[in-house]
Amino acid sequence: MSRASGGRPRVFVARRIPDEGLTRVLAETDADLWTDALPPPRDELLRRVRGVDGVLSLLTDRVDDELLDAAGPQLRVVSNFAVGFDNIDVPACTRRGIPVGNTPGVLTETTADFAFALLMAAVRRIPEGHDYVRAGHWKTWGPMLLLGPDVHHATLGIVGFGRIGKEMAKRAHGFDMTVLVHDAYPPSAEEQAALGVTAVSQDELFARSDMISLHVNLTPDTRHLIDAAALARMKPTAVLVNTSRGPVVDQVALADALRRGVIAAAALDVTDPEPMSPDDPLLALPTCLVVPHIASATHATRGKMAQMAAANLLAGLRGERLPTPVNPEVYDRSRAG
Ligand code: GLV
Repeated sequence: MSRASGGRPRVFVARRIPDEGLTRVLAETDADLWTDALPPPRDELLRRVRGVDGVLSLLTDRVDDELLDAAGPQLRVVSNFAVGFDNIDVPACTRRGIPVGNTPGVLTETTADFAFALLMAAVRRIPEGHDYVRAGHWKTWGPMLLLGPDVHHATLGIVGFGRIGKEMAKRAHGFDMTVLVHDAYPPSAEEQAALGVTAVSQDELFARSDMISLHVNLTPDTRHLIDAAALARMKPTAVLVNTSRGPVVDQVALADALRRGVIAAAALDVTDPEPMSPDDPLLALPTCLVVPHIASATHATRGKMAQMAAANLLAGLRGERLPTPVNPEVYDRSRAG
């Protein structure tokens, strides 16, 4: 365990993050850096946070009452190296007056690029083609080989029309797609016109879309949003793309739907659990493409995420408002208190 030295605040950094942020954290704090490639096991995490002033967490680290208790009342900030924060019990942090930071904005376009790449790959059967070549099956040009639908001029359904959903719509327009959107807070008629999208009910989106891309946060309302009933409403030719969070899709229902041809294909950047077991039935299906949660994985974006995570952590340690807090109400609360 690290020891406070020179009066610098003590922090636990749950993994090596890019130098763009790590260098500052190491320079300005007494940091205990978890250097393994795998996340700290729970008991180790609870042990390492004891007595720290700040935690720089990843989406693999659960931050809840148990961890906050283990850390102790001096804990001043939790900075998550991710835009998503479903790994954090935010109300528990807020109750204790602890601001939580995330990294919004900087990964929006990168994630939309990747969601569109997954869409293209699944629709145009790129992984199947690659496997075919690697397996030595490629004997000639085939008039009927690995046919798929067109992406251009197809209808894309975007579920969750926040920052990333909007970027996805822009990419779709480049392919002359019709874009349907559904969001708990639907865009106004003016916004729809300006962004070239049509807001519809979830059921209508499922029924009309050729491709469906998920961009919602994981909340109790969105857990298993894509279940057997939702899949049954989609076209048998539909392709589902998930770059949001794994539990948004009921994977048992998805495997069943792919096996029975209820929908045509799926591409998942996120799974439940992560990592997905190599024995998972979805991996036995050629129509399911799975990659290891890498939608934001570009050098530039991960560097910016590291900068933001460091800025949030250091601001919290100084008692300043975090640049990007997910629970700004913590400040109202402390003013009121
Ligand atoms: C990645 O999934 C993130 O939330 O940043």
